[in-house]
Amino acid sequence: MEDQERVTTAHLAVEDTDTETSLRPKLLHEYIGQRNVTENLKIFIDAARMRAEPLDHVLLYGPPGLGKTTLAGIIANEMNVRIKVTSGPAIERAGDLAAILTNLEENDVLFIDEIHRLNRSVEEILYSAMEDYVLDIIIGKGPSARSIRLDLSKFTLVGATTRAGSVSPPLRDRFGVVSKLDLYQNEELEQIIKRSATILNIDIDELSAKEIAMRSRGTPRISNRLLKRVRDFSQVKGSGSIHLEITNIALDSLGIDKMGLEKLDREILDIIINKFNGGPVGIDTISAAVGEEKVTIEDVYEPYLLQAGFINRTQKGRTAAKQAYLHLGINIPEDEQFSFK
Ligand SMILES: Nc1ncnc2c1ncn2[C@@H]1O[C@H](COP(=O)(O)OP(=O)(O)OP(=O)(O)O)[C@@H](O)[C@H]1O
Ligand SMILES: [Mg+2]
Repeated sequence: MEDQERVTTAHLAVEDTDTETSLRPKLLHEYIGQRNVTENLKIFIDAARMRAEPLDHVLLYGPPGLGKTTLAGIIANEMNVRIKVTSGPAIERAGDLAAILTNLEENDVLFIDEIHRLNRSVEEILYSAMEDYVLDIIIGKGPSARSIRLDLSKFTLVGATTRAGSVSPPLRDRFGVVSKLDLYQNEELEQIIKRSATILNIDIDELSAKEIAMRSRGTPRISNRLLKRVRDFSQVKGSGSIHLEITNIALDSLGIDKMGLEKLDREILDIIINKFNGGPVGIDTISAAVGEEKVTIEDVYEPYLLQAGFINRTQKGRTAAKQAYLHLGINIPEDEQFSFK
């Protein structure tokens, strides 16, 4: 199935766009979880405000749907400045970026999503812009070409990426703050679900919020989406209020199991266990076997399977953990039983 069609896709789907904005926290104190990141950011923001200077450039990385775009907006709101939003693939030529940069006002935030996808010539423009707030541009061609230097307003670049490893070292080094977002704990997702339910005027009980949290693979975007799907079920098949029975019916019929795994997750585990005796198996082999792109497996599936303890990553490849056997109801082979930690 196409990733975009899965209900548990962490990527932004069409159905999310209407509510995504209203559900986004606007200020730091509304942002749930990621305490390490937000506590540090708060200090840097307060300090920058005291000095009436722009905040240092911030690079946010982590799997899709964890709140990177949300945080970029929060940074601008907390700094009380404007935000200009763009993305790596949208900036095709150096001139496009030059136009954006020269239009920024003092202390503005420039948010570049998918910053690992900037092309080389565009990226090079950013270096001096980030470091010295100047723009070096070459005008003309051949012998008559000359370089001119333009001063820029002091600004804060907030970059976001799901692939920190793909950000070039020179670019990465120019960020003063580099923060990794982790998958959320169930209690945090539960709070996010309750907050979203209040905003969307949905009546949901405690147990249902817990259940949706448990099945959201650590990702707020999935929590919000499941909440809305469960609401649909409760309106059509129930009383309109969300309680555990209708929650379970809805989530089961969406093909999401108790641990938040869906078909492809279970296929990945099944392949490692049954075709490769529990692994280790390389990511390319897994990708070919399940017919899904390697990057999607690495960015979307693997983080949750790792965090929830279904697989381990070793130098030789991925291995199935005891929990995977238990979850799929497969007997752990005798000779393997003692090798699990
Ligand atoms: N800490 C949080 N507290 C409350 N809601 C959150 C939080 N983080 C994310 N969300 C919710 O999850 C949704 C997705 O977050 P966001 O769009 O910021 O993710 P992202 O990391 O930018 O994803 P992508 O990598 O796909 O761009 C938001 O609309 C917001 O409602
Ligand atoms: Mg985003």
